[in-house]
Amino acid sequence: MKERLTQLMQEAEKKMSCISSLQEAEELRIKLLGKKGELTEMLKGMKSLAPEERKSFGQAANEARAKIENTLNERMEYFRNAQKELALAAEKVDVTEPAVPCELGSRHLLSVTIDEITSCFRSMGFSVSEGPEVETVFNNFDALNAGPNHPARDMTDTFYITDDVLLRTQTSPVQVRTLLSQKPPIKVIAPGRCFRCDTPDATHSPMFHQVEGLVVDEGITMADLKGVLDQFAKQMFGSSTRTKFRPHHFPFTEPSAEMDVSCFKCGGKGCKVCKGSGWIEILGCGMVHPNVLKVGGIDTEKYTGFAFGMGVERVAMLKYEVDDIRLLYENDIRFVKQFK
Ligand code: DAH
Repeated sequence: MKERLTQLMQEAEKKMSCISSLQEAEELRIKLLGKKGELTEMLKGMKSLAPEERKSFGQAANEARAKIENTLNERMEYFRNAQKELALAAEKVDVTEPAVPCELGSRHLLSVTIDEITSCFRSMGFSVSEGPEVETVFNNFDALNAGPNHPARDMTDTFYITDDVLLRTQTSPVQVRTLLSQKPPIKVIAPGRCFRCDTPDATHSPMFHQVEGLVVDEGITMADLKGVLDQFAKQMFGSSTRTKFRPHHFPFTEPSAEMDVSCFKCGGKGCKVCKGSGWIEILGCGMVHPNVLKVGGIDTEKYTGFAFGMGVERVAMLKYEVDDIRLLYENDIRFVKQFK
């Protein structure tokens, strides 16, 4: 039996020296020292030995067991450390390495323009209000004095959702919402999206943006309208900008006008931007029609007001010389990132 032990030990030592992984070490431990391991079995067989032999064999077997255990533990420790080192090396962070550049986006030209327009009016004490893009026909047309036969009500111009609900064709319904929810003095602008059934081309889009304005107070006159809008034009297009007002018609204002600004590109001499006229049409405006004020229950003997509305795309395209409205929606990064 002693010889078998010596042989087992020799073989074990050989095997232990060729272990190449933690798993192999564990397998060998089970093979030798496990419940049914070779050495365990040998120890079990000790019973059959004579008592004097049993003692010395027992001692030798225990020494062998301790030796195997120690060696295997050392090997295991070695592989555990190696694994840890590997993991650490893989997770190592080089804090001196230059960071992956994170490209910062830029604001969209329409947002830039809305912010510019809004901040002009904010500086004149206007607050900013928003309304829903899905509106009632009442707020979009009737309350704005656009009777049932008004051409804008035609199905071809407007996206109707039901007979009474539509995608707003203008930001003017925010006037109605404001008049219904606030009391004068009112001084508000409303930027937002509008929708019309237009086939897209260089100057048309079925979705576009407007900024609406409304002022209602005692003693408001056309002079206030002209003063505020002239100041806006100077802030927006440069301090030497001149304005002129041409008579026009809108159902919700009386009298109504369109405001032109002197061309900020050529100063009024005539160029491509102003199509040779020296003037550029910028917005619609007028004194709020008493019928509109009455919707909000406002005393039209006491209060008057003015309103205006402008297309954001138009302002942006003129100011930044963009010649196709579709560029604003295609989101080609080469176009979009030119404007901060
Ligand atoms: N809603 C008009 C449009 O879409 C723009 C406009 C003109 C708004 C005159 C107004 C205004 O408030 O007074 O063309």
